[in-house]
Amino acid sequence: MGHDGESIWHDDLLLMRQAGVNLVTVGIFSWAALQPDEHTFTFEWLDRVLDLLAEDKIFACLGTGTAAQPAWLSITYPQVLPVNAWGQRRRHGERMNYCPTSPTFRSFAQQLVRRLAERYRSHPALLLWHVSNEYGPICYCDNCAVRFRTWLQARYGSLDAINRRWVTPFWGHSFSAWEQIEPPSLLGDRSMQGLLLDYQQFMSEVNLECYREEAQILRDLAPGVPVQTNFHGLVKHLDYFAWAPHQDMIAWDSYPTADDPPAATAFRLDLMRGLKGGQSWLLLEQTPSQTQWRAYNPLKRPGEMRLQSYQAIAHGADSALFFQWRQSRGGSEMHHGAIVSHTGHAQARVFQEVAALGAELRELGQHLLGARRPARVALLFSWPNWWAVEYQPGLSAALNYLDEVTRYYSALWQHNIAVDIIGPDSPIEGYDLLLAPLLYMVSERQGAAIERYVADGGMFLSTYFSGIIAEDGRAWLGGSPGPLRRTLGIWVEEVDPLLPGKSNNIVISDGAGVAAGTYTCDLWCEILHLEGARALAQFGADFYAGAPAITEHRFGQGRAYYLATRPEPALLDQIVGALLADLGIAAPLAVPGGVEVSKRCAGGQEFMFVLNHHIQEQVIALPEPMHDLLTGQIHEQQISLAGRGVALLVAQSTSPARP
Ligand code: GAL
Ligand code: ZN
Repeated sequence: MGHDGESIWHDDLLLMRQAGVNLVTVGIFSWAALQPDEHTFTFEWLDRVLDLLAEDKIFACLGTGTAAQPAWLSITYPQVLPVNAWGQRRRHGERMNYCPTSPTFRSFAQQLVRRLAERYRSHPALLLWHVSNEYGPICYCDNCAVRFRTWLQARYGSLDAINRRWVTPFWGHSFSAWEQIEPPSLLGDRSMQGLLLDYQQFMSEVNLECYREEAQILRDLAPGVPVQTNFHGLVKHLDYFAWAPHQDMIAWDSYPTADDPPAATAFRLDLMRGLKGGQSWLLLEQTPSQTQWRAYNPLKRPGEMRLQSYQAIAHGADSALFFQWRQSRGGSEMHHGAIVSHTGHAQARVFQEVAALGAELRELGQHLLGARRPARVALLFSWPNWWAVEYQPGLSAALNYLDEVTRYYSALWQHNIAVDIIGPDSPIEGYDLLLAPLLYMVSERQGAAIERYVADGGMFLSTYFSGIIAEDGRAWLGGSPGPLRRTLGIWVEEVDPLLPGKSNNIVISDGAGVAAGTYTCDLWCEILHLEGARALAQFGADFYAGAPAITEHRFGQGRAYYLATRPEPALLDQIVGALLADLGIAAPLAVPGGVEVSKRCAGGQEFMFVLNHHIQEQVIALPEPMHDLLTGQIHEQQISLAGRGVALLVAQSTSPARP
């Protein structure tokens, strides 16, 4: 048993062919292997790997290797190590363990990237570059402090401007010299929202600088080879909308927990498509079976990996790639799922499932690569708003922006509606419905754009605690919801965050468009006045019983809705359903709950993914005979999908593969 190097690579290639692998990411954590000391480079092993891949016509997504610096770098130049929020300098180890402003780190990283690009730019295996990996070290070191001050100077010009913007005189925090401004570490000042927001932005930007500097070298030396780095989860400290323009394509690592609702994953998948305005993207990592870094890491059940892969593709992915190819004998991820396990051969369920998927995708590529997913509904997601909501001193510890947006997304998802996730600066005209829950931070410009959108006939929905602060973190004066006030036709006088476990209720009478009755609401209630809007529902309890809980404002050609509280999901589902019905937006196919339908379009053809998230079989009626591209079968009137089953349907009359 046990063999290394060249012979295992030959096994790998054989197995890759069997699995239908046509793209492998290599070298992500290879800095130490490529540069064993400051003056020595050892590319020969990577030459061999890439040559072998090329011989087998397998492409490489070539890592720049800079996500984990070699020990010699940290030891010789300790200032490359980051300082944590407690002011302690980290020791060497782990990964993403460097200071993102360190000039030493950056120059060594760039030197490596330059050598890689020079050496491999014309290599036949090279298909795309993978810069670093899952970015995001946050640092509070002195160098970051210095860089932060320069960043502030460039942005705001004067200390006066900062004192105004951060409202520093409160608690007597006015700055009289730049050196007095410190990063908001846990030892420092975390009382100024403006400082927290700006440092957050600054950290996202300096991480982006690291990426951009490496990307620029690759673009200069290897023009035409696309450059990307992988996003992961939903990372709060990197503003993906700000990063996206610098990526040639979006790449994402998908690691849903075993009990994540499929809607939560779908939200992230749609966000990835939204980052570049609808451009298809790469599912760069998912585990073929289990993770190893959670407290509990159950296996993916038979069919689960396939279902998740197709869910990603249904929402705009052009690939199904995996972490990891082969389990390592040791190290921190030795038990993480892999296409090839420690056993080392193909006679394993996981390998077989990956190989079967590989065979299917080989056929589908011709139809689906680059396919779009047109949507009439947009859901706004903003990183700066996220930061602002959750750094808000006080009011409610339970405010959770991601959770709130996911609730609205899930309501749309239940209806199987295509949704574009858009950023705070994305264009909104052209959509029929725009949802912007918990939009605490609204700029003048954004408010005006939303006002124009509604006046011109758009439908808009927002919720409690919206339009409270401007982009600089300061409250709008003169009545909230600030720049949304005219559009929504309301004035919110008071906000009432509820204690955990407490609730109020929403009373809906006839004629509101949803079933009359009393529904629960919790988390937050607001006392508002109508300024042109009408109340569709009232609060049922407390001293503001009878006050509006949901409002509708007919404004210009459009309508604007406001939910002054957090309704129970059943009501939210109805509200969203009523708006969609009003606009005539319907699912492409009527399906039982828990079955997802998602359409992508290419070459004048519509491809309908039907994903059964149940473990039991589901039967779906078809409006016309349809061809399942995955099985080759024609279904005249209905299709029955096994538990975790997937179909990729095209109308038989237009099928590209008509028999
Ligand atoms: C990803 C990471 C991989 C691997 C994987 C394990 O986030 O990019 O390198 O660690 O997680 O699930
Ligand atoms: Zn630093």
